[in-house]
Amino acid sequence: METITVALGARSYPIYIGSEIFDRAELYVPHFAQKKAALVTNETVAPLYLDRLSNALRAAGVDVVPIVLPDGERHKNWQTLNSIYDSLLRNRCERKTTIVALGGGVVGDLGGFAAASFLRGVPFIQVPTTLLAQVDSSVGGKTGINHPLGKNMIGAFYQPKAVIADISTLNSLPDRELSAGLAEVIKYGLIRDLPFFEWLEQHMEKLLAREPQALAYAVRRSCENKAEVVGADEREEGERALLNLGHTFGHAIETAGNYERWLHGEAVALGTVLAARLSVAVAQMHPSLVARIESLLRAAKLPVDPPALGAERYIKLMSNDKKVEQGKMRFVTLNDIGASSVGFVELSTLIRLFDQSDRTT
Ligand code: NAD
Ligand code: GLY
Repeated sequence: METITVALGARSYPIYIGSEIFDRAELYVPHFAQKKAALVTNETVAPLYLDRLSNALRAAGVDVVPIVLPDGERHKNWQTLNSIYDSLLRNRCERKTTIVALGGGVVGDLGGFAAASFLRGVPFIQVPTTLLAQVDSSVGGKTGINHPLGKNMIGAFYQPKAVIADISTLNSLPDRELSAGLAEVIKYGLIRDLPFFEWLEQHMEKLLAREPQALAYAVRRSCENKAEVVGADEREEGERALLNLGHTFGHAIETAGNYERWLHGEAVALGTVLAARLSVAVAQMHPSLVARIESLLRAAKLPVDPPALGAERYIKLMSNDKKVEQGKMRFVTLNDIGASSVGFVELSTLIRLFDQSDRTT
């Protein structure tokens, strides 16, 4: 097992990465303020992992309250959040009760926001069971729910006490979900880590074959990158915005597909292709790199042809994004692989980009 620290002063916390570690009670108990924990999970993950974790914690003397949510992004909403509060209150959970989120990014974002808000904040542990959650959503403290008018519009920055990333849980993950997680892994190489991007180019087959050593390295390197960025800019006032590469385009694509057509990571891959094309136009990225980026995304079995929604629709959908400031849209662009920056982009440039992209796809 390896441990990475997210350095945030008194709120610093460990990310434990290993195989067959998610039911090791000794990783949890030292972070508990009281021997009571609410395990928030969903109906897909519960039959796979809930009993093992509950039994291990109960054997260590912990009073366990299981809370099983419906599965899916469409349930990342107010009603589901309220059902978590109902269960916490009915089971007499207190300020010292720890909420443990066992599942993918949806469970993590919901469980985290419940922890941030229940009784004005209770301790929280993330146990991510998708690749996307292990490399991205469980680290850094962004929690929240969707609003009918926009994704992740309601939420809080709330850091966990610990993250327990068990790569053996990825064995039950559908192939498509594994690939979706790889989109966020590739992102770290693109924005700040050329050697990692090159490593991914060489090891993609091993990752798709779920070779434990390759997966553990990809999760570790991703978490190291994310921990460094979050440690330097917890509240996204600067460098953290680089983690949004492809996300403004991606959120528009996800919304246009009604959150059904594309998984989050797939939409990020499509958004990354658009961000790469934009980078050639505004950030002097060498045009040959677009093909290199598409090739790695394709090798990860991710889609690379952004939907032809038309410039007007894209721009309307993107203007609801949180990254809009005083009506101007900010984008992450690449100067090179491993070198990125954030800047405002003229509307006319975006219109040209979408017109050209519509012709290519
Ligand atoms: P998800 O949580 O919907 O999980 C994907 C699917 O895999 C679900 O059906 C889930 O039940 C299932 N699953 C989870 N673990 C499994 C396992 N081990 N075996 C089999 N099936 C399993 O999706 P996701 O991709 O993990 O997360 C996407 C969400 O994360 C989005 O809501 C996105 O907005 C959010 N997100 C948040 C942050 C953040 O910083 N907070 C960052 C990126 C994404
Ligand atoms: N997933 C982007 C962030 O955590 O900032």
